[in-house]
Amino acid sequence: MAFPQSFMDELVARSDIVDVVGSYVQLSRKGANLFGLCPFHNEKTGSFSVSPDKQIYYCFGCKKGGGVVNFVMDIENLTFPDAVRFLAKRAGMEVPEETGDREAGRRRQRLLDLNRDAARFYYQMLQQPEGRAVQAYLDRRRIRKATAVKFGMGASLDSWDALLTAMTKKGYTKSELLDAGLVVQNRNGGLYDKFRNRLMLPVIDTRGDVVAFGSRVLDKSEPKYMNSSETPVYSKRRVLYGLNLAKKTQRPNIILCEGNLDIVTLHQAGFDNAVASMGTALTVEQTRLLSRFTKELVLCYDNDNAGKIATERALQILNNSEFSVKVLQLPRRLVDGEYVKQDADDFIKFQGPDAFERLLNGSENGVEFRMAQVAGKYDLSGDEARIAYCEEISDLLASLSSAVEREIYTVRAAETAKITPVAMKLEVQRAFKRRIAREKRAELRKDLNPAAQLQPKDRSLRYENLRSARAEEGVLRLLLLDESLFPAEAPLKPEQFSSPLLGKVFGLLWQSRESGRPVSLASLADLLSSEEISHITAVCQQPESIQNGRQALADYIRIVQTEADKRTGAAMDPLLAATEKYKDKKGTGGKQHV
Ligand code: CTP
Ligand code: MN
Repeated sequence: MAFPQSFMDELVARSDIVDVVGSYVQLSRKGANLFGLCPFHNEKTGSFSVSPDKQIYYCFGCKKGGGVVNFVMDIENLTFPDAVRFLAKRAGMEVPEETGDREAGRRRQRLLDLNRDAARFYYQMLQQPEGRAVQAYLDRRRIRKATAVKFGMGASLDSWDALLTAMTKKGYTKSELLDAGLVVQNRNGGLYDKFRNRLMLPVIDTRGDVVAFGSRVLDKSEPKYMNSSETPVYSKRRVLYGLNLAKKTQRPNIILCEGNLDIVTLHQAGFDNAVASMGTALTVEQTRLLSRFTKELVLCYDNDNAGKIATERALQILNNSEFSVKVLQLPRRLVDGEYVKQDADDFIKFQGPDAFERLLNGSENGVEFRMAQVAGKYDLSGDEARIAYCEEISDLLASLSSAVEREIYTVRAAETAKITPVAMKLEVQRAFKRRIAREKRAELRKDLNPAAQLQPKDRSLRYENLRSARAEEGVLRLLLLDESLFPAEAPLKPEQFSSPLLGKVFGLLWQSRESGRPVSLASLADLLSSEEISHITAVCQQPESIQNGRQALADYIRIVQTEADKRTGAAMDPLLAATEKYKDKKGTGGKQHV
């Protein structure tokens, strides 16, 4: 634990979750809880709740939840220690720089230093005769010297240990090199350079730190691109290639592309507002990062199937967001009688910057893009196709949240289908009703299948033994609801829990209790992953009556013990296990077993 417990406890006590969340989300009271629109997914009716009593937040829609520190980590895109510092500042508290924390901070800084030194090394190699192959490649791609310098490009050599040797000489250890993902270990424990004979593209965050590397081969071999793996200083969900430069642009928007070299070419051509998400779909974390610099995004993904899917996904993430979104569609290019896709890099090369500027100015908005996608599927000269088109387009129109947008595009769709706007409007209303009915049916199905609901959303947390897990959840819920219910002696051991997560949380709560600290979910922020904390919050959200709490707790504990005994019994005596199973089937349960 990086910060002293007493400090954390005071911080949590002084950071009321209603105040903290309230500065991001408009909340209104409904019974014991407050509700608002979830800041972590797009929605029109509030399923985001905050409980002042339990000091937790939970979204019934996207199932995210946790304590006040988790909330700040998620909404501000911060690591645990940074979220703690953020809250401390807010609460006017001094942050004690404890040894553990200093140590973690020092290690992080070492990794950043190492990345910077590695980037310098690659950069120098590019200027040397050894970097000739990479320089030739840059020439072939028509990347100018000044551009390469601006992006800090470099060359990894055709060698197994050039970087390893250079960095070792500078005093970096084996484990630091491994942690940074710059070297790889072979089966005999020997180390070798991960990046060899490649064009090196340092990934620089908005603070100016080198957090990772992208790299490209010089020929047609695979893998074409190789990127750093996730490290303590790099999470690809939270970084955009080129944003360190694009954040300074004078242009009114930011262009999102698929590829690193698209960014390089665009910047070179004067579009210094381009960024790329390096081979992953746009993430919510990245949109939050972007919102610090712009309110207008232009999606410029490849004009092929994968690119269209990526566009659609990005539009979904950005739907109802604060951004205005446009889609820039790159036309295909005729090569040997065949139309082939081109990316931004190809387009600039063949059509030039002015043509790109025209595309940028003429980009359609997200709705127009989606409507064109639907229209493109049908040959609208036939009646049947027109009917099918109307049906599909009305689903799309019915999903638009703004009435003005719905009206405008309904008229446009009517023109496309060559029917009257009145008929189209009716069709959209029907689609709207269909959607509501569909949602109701889905809701009903969920109600009819409670077992599925009881399972954690995250697959890796699935319960093996539902009966025991329900009781384990009850134990945690009661203890979190009313501390005075804690018995004098630990009634269970974490190992007796069938769910490792629930057992772990029980162990942690018990420790807090033993050392006289407040028992709360908020104190678990840095000990559990975001999926884990969300699940535990969901568990606490379920109703539990504290009346007869003591009796209920005893009942839960007995069930957990019984189930645990069954497991150990089963391990010892397969014959007994078989009979127990038989009894269970008969519905007598394991009661007489205790
Ligand atoms: N990518 C990756 N791993 C791969 C292929 C691609 O991480 N094996 C990522 C890279 O960030 C790349 C982006 O996805 O820039 C787009 O890939 P692609 O369209 O294949 O490459 P281009 O950017 O067009 O690359 P180039 O022009 O250099 O061929
Ligand atoms: Mn390309």
